[in-house]
Amino acid sequence: MLVLGIETTCDETAAAVVRRHSDGRGEILSDEVLSQIAEHAAFGGVVPEIAARAHLDVLDRLVARALAKASLEMSDLDGIAAAGGPGLVGGVLVGLTMAKALALGAGKPFVAVNHLEGHALTPRLTDGVTFPYLLLLVSGGHTQLIAVRGVGDYVKLGTTIDDAVGEAFDKVAKMLGLAYPGGPRVEIEAERGDPERFDLPRPLLGRAAPDFSLSGLKTAVRLAAESVAPLTATDVADLCASFQAAVVDVIIDRVRAALRVFRERFEPPSALVVAGGVGANRAIRRALMRLSGEAGLRLAVPPPALCTDNGTMIAWAGAERLALGLTDGFDFAARARWPLDANAAPALGSGRLGAKA
Ligand code: KG4
Ligand code: ZN
Repeated sequence: MLVLGIETTCDETAAAVVRRHSDGRGEILSDEVLSQIAEHAAFGGVVPEIAARAHLDVLDRLVARALAKASLEMSDLDGIAAAGGPGLVGGVLVGLTMAKALALGAGKPFVAVNHLEGHALTPRLTDGVTFPYLLLLVSGGHTQLIAVRGVGDYVKLGTTIDDAVGEAFDKVAKMLGLAYPGGPRVEIEAERGDPERFDLPRPLLGRAAPDFSLSGLKTAVRLAAESVAPLTATDVADLCASFQAAVVDVIIDRVRAALRVFRERFEPPSALVVAGGVGANRAIRRALMRLSGEAGLRLAVPPPALCTDNGTMIAWAGAERLALGLTDGFDFAARARWPLDANAAPALGSGRLGAKA
């Protein structure tokens, strides 16, 4: 089964083609990504209107390139998938409309993929992971621990009650004068800093429910920075190292809590799987490796380029859905919000208590 996938939910425009064999194995035939970092850098974050226009500027060429690199024509495909959300609606509309038009023109099935499902299912392509598994999804917009029990069968075990982990990295970077996107810059600074110089909080450590809170930690970094200002290069490195060490402790403790809940509620997970841009962080990867070793659990982390947003994850999730006969109509509307687990109660403090999902 050959599927084209299109990703336009945030600041990466991406198109890819994957093949899914009948035994469930996958193969990446092409994977094209254009990042808009340069367009947004001056603003210190993603500007939705600029993102949507930038997707529109390049998407047609990117799709053509993904097909050419896979040595395929539209008529060879078995389906066309696009991320239908969650994300910035202007951008999602660009990708969805392109996918629908291509599917309509070529007479192919159309699949609207949940961007989070793309992240969640990627380790099945890269590592052949089997259900059920524990997913740690850590990106700029999401921080969730999810029991992945099957395609479309997700149970949210915990989430952040304020900032996402990637967002905290980006905000800390900004307050320390590091360029956007901050995560990779903070990691580089942290490598030459002293992680014990600043005594920063580890919010929610030891709580049974596997939720996260990052905003208090972020504020503590700001206060610590103010206490030693003006900042020297050593101060910046030490602040980054201390911040990253706190994040690592929090992540490890929260994953442990999630593993306990998982084992209580379901059969033991086959693996711990990490997805989302923060999964590219080497300190976090190393700590998760130690944890999975202790827990006797397989750790699957896709390569960094498949942790951050990409087209392959959408093509693959589309292929997994198509293999189950799941397709969508052309009336599918772009979704700004689209929780993976529609039954989960909103997190306390998320500001969404009682709001419609
Ligand atoms: O998954 P992603 O590409 O986009 C979405 O948010 O969906 O994740 C981007 C986030 C940004 O917040 C970025 O700062 C963070 O992932 N990130 C990192 C690293 N690389 C990317 N955070 C920490 N360490 C890194 N090496
Ligand atoms: Zn993402």
